[in-house]
Amino acid sequence: FHVDEDASASEKGAYEHFMLKEIDEQPAVMHKLVQEYTNEDGSMKIDQDLINAIEDADRLYIVAAGTSYHAGLVGHELFEKFAKIPTEVHVASEFAYNQPLLSKKPFFIFLTQSGETADSHQVLTQVNEAGYPSLTITNVANSTLSREATYTLLLYAGPEIAVASTKAYTAQIAVEALLAKALGVDMGYQEAKDFDVRKELSIVANGMQELVDEKHDIEKLAQKYLAKARNAFYIGRAIDYDTAIEAALKLKEVSYIQTEGFAAGELKHGTIALIEEGTPVISIITDHTIASHTRSNEEEVVARGANVISIVSKDLAKDTDQIVLPTVHPLLTSLVAIIPAQLLAYYASEQRGYDVDKPRNLAKSVTVE
Ligand code: G6P
Repeated sequence: FHVDEDASASEKGAYEHFMLKEIDEQPAVMHKLVQEYTNEDGSMKIDQDLINAIEDADRLYIVAAGTSYHAGLVGHELFEKFAKIPTEVHVASEFAYNQPLLSKKPFFIFLTQSGETADSHQVLTQVNEAGYPSLTITNVANSTLSREATYTLLLYAGPEIAVASTKAYTAQIAVEALLAKALGVDMGYQEAKDFDVRKELSIVANGMQELVDEKHDIEKLAQKYLAKARNAFYIGRAIDYDTAIEAALKLKEVSYIQTEGFAAGELKHGTIALIEEGTPVISIITDHTIASHTRSNEEEVVARGANVISIVSKDLAKDTDQIVLPTVHPLLTSLVAIIPAQLLAYYASEQRGYDVDKPRNLAKSVTVE
């Protein structure tokens, strides 16, 4: 596989839908990002001015919408763990009209596939008026948010045509990991030095490939559990919760199954009332520190009749788990855990007879507030 570099190359080829093509392209995007942002000796190819500007800040504010916001949630973990910079993640449409109290030296990161989202642009305009430095991480060079921010990093994911974002999400997380690594190394943190981002993203790419190669198993699971479902839940804790929210958005936006992404431990405080006989509950478990807790939450919903589908890292998996994830770095698990979730969404939509690439009421890029 190679990543399409221009719109003329963005044809479906043998694929029936762009969404599946774009899901399949994700391993290639990971390789491409390693190539664009790292040197073979392990040093990073990221503008030193950008690194200096971020290091000068006392807090990062990630601002985004939709799937990009979910990539920001994972970025939060990466920037705090590798670069030790306090990080907040905000939904653009909220931030624009209800600005939090800012730190003394904020630095803004806009995550946006299109670079044109009006809600994010509105915030960037305010940020520029206040004179704060900013970075746009986008798939579209020369887009509005790229032009108006102080710095830009590109996603190199090739054109994303399907309305439901897939490869831009994983590319955003990978770029955040690369940037967090570069920052942490520059600041001399051991965690960042030990994080071999070239190797780890290659492991991720191979893991993604294994998962997309097994897509027909996921298709069967979608047929069994989702083709007729009315509602569904994704549950997870910590980074798996970040993934769960994106996984839920994917499923709801293309299959129209009402889906919530929930913190696994919070379900019992109210929402468990919605679990009925046959409700699909998809749990994501990649972190050994929380595995036993999320397993208990699986049991709680099974006791109320739920059909549980477990997406579990190999080292934590039981024989009965339906989807086993290849082992990757603990802070990069979203990159592999999201693949079966994207595939479940894709097949559920197809099986229910919907227009997978153009779900009702949605636009690829929303240029109104
Ligand atoms: C629209 C799209 C979503 C996307 C969001 C943010 O709502 O349908 O898939 O995540 O905009 O878009 P952006 O281009 O800013 O990432």
